[in-house]
Amino acid sequence: MKTTFLAVIAFLSTSLRLTPDSAIAIAQKNEDKRNLPINQQIVEYTQSTEIKPSVISTSNTAKWWRYTKEIKPATRSGDDQLVLVNKEYQLPQSYAPSDLVLASNAGIRKGSGYYLRNILINDLRNLVNAAVADSIDLSIVSGYRSYNTQVATYNHWVSINGVDGADKISARPGHSQHQLGTAVDFSSSEVADGLGGSFYTTRAAAWLYANSWKYGFVISYPSGYESTTGYSYESWHYRYIGVANAQEMHGSGMILEVYLDSKN
Ligand code: DAL
Ligand code: ZN
Repeated sequence: MKTTFLAVIAFLSTSLRLTPDSAIAIAQKNEDKRNLPINQQIVEYTQSTEIKPSVISTSNTAKWWRYTKEIKPATRSGDDQLVLVNKEYQLPQSYAPSDLVLASNAGIRKGSGYYLRNILINDLRNLVNAAVADSIDLSIVSGYRSYNTQVATYNHWVSINGVDGADKISARPGHSQHQLGTAVDFSSSEVADGLGGSFYTTRAAAWLYANSWKYGFVISYPSGYESTTGYSYESWHYRYIGVANAQEMHGSGMILEVYLDSKN
């Protein structure tokens, strides 16, 4: 009965396609506005119903979405391109990058309103130009999110999916790569700039997966590695680790989680 109810809620959430504006409203309603930084960024609308069956079948390890019992402080500074932030290692609540700039500085079609670290803007511009040359349209639908915004984001998902459901798709505060200012959620005109959802079906998603490492960006939560990353497949969520590191990672065949684990 409960399962049916949750399925109906999930279906309705998908069908209603909550807009970024409604996401902002939800996030801001719950947020302590005194602590709200200028660059509050938003919620990821992922739905478990949109995950490919092959992904679900590889996620059967019991409770792969759970946090470790002991949560430790990240071993590198948040400013470090190789800092590991996951379900074991947490950023300080006070951490915020000091060099945030508008993502639109990289010349991407839709990037205004989202902030990213300045260190990645040139490489993001190169990535966007290469995509355009291959007739691929890209947009940005989330970038930097403060600790406090992640509080609201995570709580939003808990209210919809419960704790276990939320933990599969949304990081708890301090555990999100979005707090680093180097995580980007991409979308495309192919899916009307929607966040999450069917992005994995697009040419843009395939192009990013094949080419983004050349520009320092790598997928954080790839398909089939849920029990390693602790998150459902996110075809849209990329993290910048710098061109040299991304090349090394690509050459090693490791996914980001394993690569960063070897460096922390
Ligand atoms: N959706 C990713 C895991 C985040 O919330 O950072
Ligand atoms: Zn993301």
